[in-house]
Amino acid sequence: MKLQKIKIDKVLGFRGNWTIKVGVFDENNNLASILIPSGKSKGKFEVKNLNPDEALLKSEEISNFLKNLDLQDQETLDNKLIEFDKTKNFENLGGNVALGISLACAKLVSINLNIPFYKYLNFLQTGDYNSFNYQAPRILFNIAEGGVHAENNLEFQEHLISFKNQTIFSQIENLKEFNNSFLNILKKENKNLIFGDEGGWAGNYQNEETLINTLFDLKNNLKIDLDLGLDIASSSISNFEPKMFLKRYLKLFERFKLFYFEDPFPEEGFENFYQDFYAQIGNQDLIIGDDLISTNPELVKEISDKKMINGVIIKPDQVGTISKTLKTIELAKENNWKIIVSHRSQETLDNYLADLAIGIGADFVKFGTFYQGERLAKYNRLIEIESELS
Ligand code: PGA
Ligand code: ZN
Repeated sequence: MKLQKIKIDKVLGFRGNWTIKVGVFDENNNLASILIPSGKSKGKFEVKNLNPDEALLKSEEISNFLKNLDLQDQETLDNKLIEFDKTKNFENLGGNVALGISLACAKLVSINLNIPFYKYLNFLQTGDYNSFNYQAPRILFNIAEGGVHAENNLEFQEHLISFKNQTIFSQIENLKEFNNSFLNILKKENKNLIFGDEGGWAGNYQNEETLINTLFDLKNNLKIDLDLGLDIASSSISNFEPKMFLKRYLKLFERFKLFYFEDPFPEEGFENFYQDFYAQIGNQDLIIGDDLISTNPELVKEISDKKMINGVIIKPDQVGTISKTLKTIELAKENNWKIIVSHRSQETLDNYLADLAIGIGADFVKFGTFYQGERLAKYNRLIEIESELS
């Protein structure tokens, strides 16, 4: 199987914004394509994307550079992308172009070998075609949005709910029920039913604490075993005051038993705050790095021993190749960190993230709510895989 040609097209993504579709052809003219998402609350350490018009101009040159390479040698392909680019963060080729090529090559191999994409991704990680084991990830459902993903008064970007280990099917049933009950409360409170970028409710609320209290009371009233969490996305909060926020987190943890805090502090210059927070709750709770790690294996290595986090967000578009993504996952697993495979706020209809989550045995997925097609694409793929395997 040899790479023959790369084709890059402009396609519509989130809310009608242009993004790119990257297609890879082999010598028999077989094709696999990938659509690339992007983020709004981006981390400083993420690779750089090209705008779609610039990206289109790259296709011929990169096509010639990679022509005839073995599609099954993923590491070499990914290293060639880095060699072509010559910068640390894909400033020339574009992280979006690089990831499209990297993933489309892997997908094309899985199509040619006639195995599901998640199984091939599992093989790329383990080197063993028989090592795949199905484990349903827990869904982190973004029930209410704030920060830069919503035009309301809430500071925290994502208010997350998650049921304990169950099948994907039953988690979805339970999430729908809880979400409907929550919306009924909002209706009774005469709140506007408006929604944010990822389909979570995004109206105004008195304040964060009152909103979390409402979710906490609902959970108790319904007598269900549900965990509450937050993606603070602290780098996007203006006038972020770390001392005050640390106090607030500890209070929220005590009062509402929050089990998950993502990006509680910005990614640069807050090591001490991370360590302080970790020392106080790290043995009972999840402290997750998103912007802090940006799916970059070098950053995992840098902070491994620092007792700052115990889980990591995986977004392949933050780092630009599947090899680097898998390396980050491998190192995170060595540290016994939880793995959360996550969409971006500005998604596409592609569903490869569901295959990645299942393939690498993610502990959690974060794909938004059930109100928008680009999120449903991932949930439906999870459902499809679970049905196939049961
Ligand atoms: P983004 O946000 O996709 O806008 O970066 C998602 C997140 O912070 O988890
Ligand atoms: Zn995040």
